[in-house]
Amino acid sequence: MSATIKFSLADSASRRDGTCATKTIRNEPFARQGEIGLSKCVAGGLFLILLLIGVTAQAAGHADWTESELTILRSLALSSLPPLPAAPSNRFADNPAAVELGRRLFFDRRLSSNGEVACASCHDPERDFQDGRSLAKGVGQANRRAMPLVGMAYSPWLFWDGRKDSQWAQALGPLENANEHNLSRGRCAKLILEHYKPEYSTVFGAPPDLSGVPENAGPLGDKRARRAWSGLDDTARDAVNRVFANAGKAIAAYERRIVWDESRFDAYVRSLGEQASARPENSLSTEEIAGLKLFIGKGHCVECHRGPMFTDLDFHNTGVPVRAGLPKDLGRLAGAERVVADEFNCLGRYSDARLEQCRELNFINKDNRRLLRAYKPPSLRNVAERPPYMHAGQFASLQAVIGHYNRAPAAPAGHSEIKPLHLKAAEIRQLKAFLKTLSGTIRSPAAAPSAFQSYPNVFDSHHKEPVGQ
Ligand code: HEC
Ligand code: HEC
Repeated sequence: MSATIKFSLADSASRRDGTCATKTIRNEPFARQGEIGLSKCVAGGLFLILLLIGVTAQAAGHADWTESELTILRSLALSSLPPLPAAPSNRFADNPAAVELGRRLFFDRRLSSNGEVACASCHDPERDFQDGRSLAKGVGQANRRAMPLVGMAYSPWLFWDGRKDSQWAQALGPLENANEHNLSRGRCAKLILEHYKPEYSTVFGAPPDLSGVPENAGPLGDKRARRAWSGLDDTARDAVNRVFANAGKAIAAYERRIVWDESRFDAYVRSLGEQASARPENSLSTEEIAGLKLFIGKGHCVECHRGPMFTDLDFHNTGVPVRAGLPKDLGRLAGAERVVADEFNCLGRYSDARLEQCRELNFINKDNRRLLRAYKPPSLRNVAERPPYMHAGQFASLQAVIGHYNRAPAAPAGHSEIKPLHLKAAEIRQLKAFLKTLSGTIRSPAAAPSAFQSYPNVFDSHHKEPVGQ
């Protein structure tokens, strides 16, 4: 499904234990190793001196990277991330008033059937915009784990199975989902106009009159709500849909600005480009560097976790086990069908895009058995900060995740793309140590001072919960 980055494993493996070679690299960060012959090293006391220099070099965080490895390292660094992409289906995506309205909607618990659930309940800024639970909890319990939202403006598909094709269309899902905000579409549109009429008008123009719409009317609600929805005329349904879609567009304007700052890994890669690169604060430990080597080499992790986001944003079956007690989950196979049928997709009437701007949807791959139980790889940035892992929180720790890749069990359905890695315990530790270097701070549009005085407790019930519950 995705192109594999090719690189030479043999090169680095043959050099890994050469302390002499490490010295070469210390002086010339990009030099090819092996330029110093082993015979010279073993000559007398010189060996010991070089060994000591080698140890110093390792401690300063230098490694024997080949040119092709360096190319991969640079491709993974945050500096390779292109500027924020355009969002053609959302013409309000870069409107500052929409950003502010979206931010307020994101934190507003009134937008739920019990008055307790906001987007931020499951996407808590204090927890990398996720919730630390294995299955998310809103009005009810969700069937999947909440995803971190960072950098998702770059993602052509949203959700684990990519059943939405824009951030604004995605935001509409949880509002109507019975386990999440549990609002009927009509109620949601009415609440938005009730609480945010001036702000809404500033961004989207005069709002429609929804007074004729019953309190509880929507295409996805209970029987009564669905009956009320089909009882509305086209104009009323369109008016509700328009307000609903605009709320999604405002939320997306906020959400697309949630981005990463540099991690220790990024600082390390940056320092490799500097000639006098012995800056200890930018170095990685020997163990972390060994883990990085495994990540781009023997572990094959970079085949799917690639680019500056550490994900190819495509879909893969990696044989993750089924979690008992949940409805059957077909992954991307179902997600692809659903995004094509979605009335809020790029080609729908509420999209601002022209036909030719909906490239992803026009060229979607959907009739392919390889999509069965295929999921979007999450970014690995900040991954150590947010256990548990996988689409239904199947693994409690990074140790368990790496153990899964190491064994590569058969997929519960469909065909797993991964193969056993035969990593030793020490290598698993190294890989884990490397993943921890990917943590950094996250930036999002700041709250206006005193903006949420009436809702100070948005996160309280979630902060104190133990991770993995
Ligand atoms: C009850 C908890 C809960 C609430 C409330 C909630 N979400 Fe989510 N969110 C989830 C879960 C679970 C997923 C993954 C669902 C899936 O793939 O089926 C998710 C996925 C997402 C994604 C996809 C990220 C990606 O990488 O594809 C985005 C974006 C998102 N939510 C934004 C929002 C917004 C905006 C709101 C408020 C309108 C919201 N969420 C409300 C639990 C929640
Ligand atoms: C064939 C593609 C592929 C390869 C190779 C791969 N991954 Fe993944 N990774 C995924 C997918 C897909 C998921 C999400 C799977 C799911 O939830 O069912 C994932 C999830 C993860 C997660 C959990 C992230 C989270 O937030 O839940 C971690 C950690 C991870 N991978 C690390 C690695 C490491 C380390 C390697 C190398 C040993 C690796 N991956 C190799 C595709 C891949």
